Amino acid sequence: MAKQNREAFGSRIGVILAMAGSAIGLGNLWRFPYVTGQNGGAAFVLIYIASTLLVALPVFMAEVIIGRRSRSNASHAMEKLSGNKKFWKFSGALAVFIPLFIASYYSVIGGWSMGYTIMSVAEPFVKMAPDKASNLFAPFVSNPWMPLAMHLVFLGLCCAIVSGGVKSGIEKFSKFTLPALFVLILIIIAYSITLPGAREGIEYLIEPSFSDITPKSFVYALGQSFYSLSLGMGTIITYGSYIKKEDNLLTEGIGTAVSDLVFAILAGLAIMPAVFAAGIEPSSGPGLIFESIPFVFCKMGADIPVISSVMSFIFFFAVVIAAMTSCISLIEVGVGWLVEKYNLSRKKASKCIFALCAVLGSLCSLSFGPLSNISIEGENIFGAFDYVASNILLMVLAFITVIFVGFALKKEDVRDEFTNNGTLKLNSLIFNTLYFLIKWVAPLAVLLIFITNFVL
Ligand code: PHE
Repeated sequence: MAKQNREAFGSRIGVILAMAGSAIGLGNLWRFPYVTGQNGGAAFVLIYIASTLLVALPVFMAEVIIGRRSRSNASHAMEKLSGNKKFWKFSGALAVFIPLFIASYYSVIGGWSMGYTIMSVAEPFVKMAPDKASNLFAPFVSNPWMPLAMHLVFLGLCCAIVSGGVKSGIEKFSKFTLPALFVLILIIIAYSITLPGAREGIEYLIEPSFSDITPKSFVYALGQSFYSLSLGMGTIITYGSYIKKEDNLLTEGIGTAVSDLVFAILAGLAIMPAVFAAGIEPSSGPGLIFESIPFVFCKMGADIPVISSVMSFIFFFAVVIAAMTSCISLIEVGVGWLVEKYNLSRKKASKCIFALCAVLGSLCSLSFGPLSNISIEGENIFGAFDYVASNILLMVLAFITVIFVGFALKKEDVRDEFTNNGTLKLNSLIFNTLYFLIKWVAPLAVLLIFITNFVL
């Protein structure tokens, strides 16, 4: 079974696409702008860029090294490389559990994006007054049925795709939609920076004011970097195991990290000017993209009515697909594990995962409506899921990963894997720096930030 999975990414471009497909998703489009808005703007963006390059990228490299060296799925990889030591079994279990936790609420946002895709044409908000369109979000999420139904449809589609093992379909799809999304974001940027009041939004993103930074900003920035690069969840370990021995891990790591960063910053540039132009609070939270983008399309609708509806439809549709390629990679970890460990068929395994995520996700979806009175440390259920998964659980797993590569693996083995047995010149040249980042900087940064978070 494992062999069969492994062959799916035979081509190099397939691996890069799959990794970029997993990395680029709601983390860039939905999460990055609103987390930036809640943490003061430009200064947070700088911390985020630094944490991506200095901490998240080394963790990414550690994960692909584990994956390719072990040629095994995430739940088993570290155990196998350590010579079956018990402790690493535990981290394998975490690597299965965390992605499902994220998939549950991730598919709720996927559902919202589906709702907005439909509303772009069926109940065209593009034709409304712009401020009305940007105020649609609160009633949309608190009406329990529509978001709940959309969540289940989105999750069902992702599970159906994983169940069929059809990677090629979705990959072909994302080959088209990811560039489309890129072009549309550029168009939205061009339009949204011309809106009156947009200047403030751009300044908010590029003029840092360090007084807005709190210790929590570091926790959020690192959490965002890990989340966006799909770290601490077993996905990159699993995809790493599909990479061919002769491929260059550095190229793949840098390619994924840079495209992920670029997508996040572009999303910020598309959304923030519109947020200011529409008079929305940048710190207003998870609804930010769903409030600001309709505003842009409404304004555009005054100039080019039909085209703006079509563009809005394609935009949200592309968001749905970007979310799907990410959500699939989350679900795949659990399904692959059930298949290998309990010998279930892919179909049965996908159904089990669907049932679990549907229950957890429904709680998240309803936490904006009937369950909104349940509050955990000031967050609703959805917010608590996101916080626990992104800022705690995946940091724990990422920490374990770097400790594993830095201390449990032999340095020579890590070097061989990273430099393809010394044949790659540049990789050999930077190996010691990377090793230092993996062994000392990444674990200490995660530990420090983690502790600060609990102490303050
Ligand atoms: N990186 C994805 C995003 O930015 C989310 C994700 C996390 C996907 C972990 C897979 C694994 O949306």
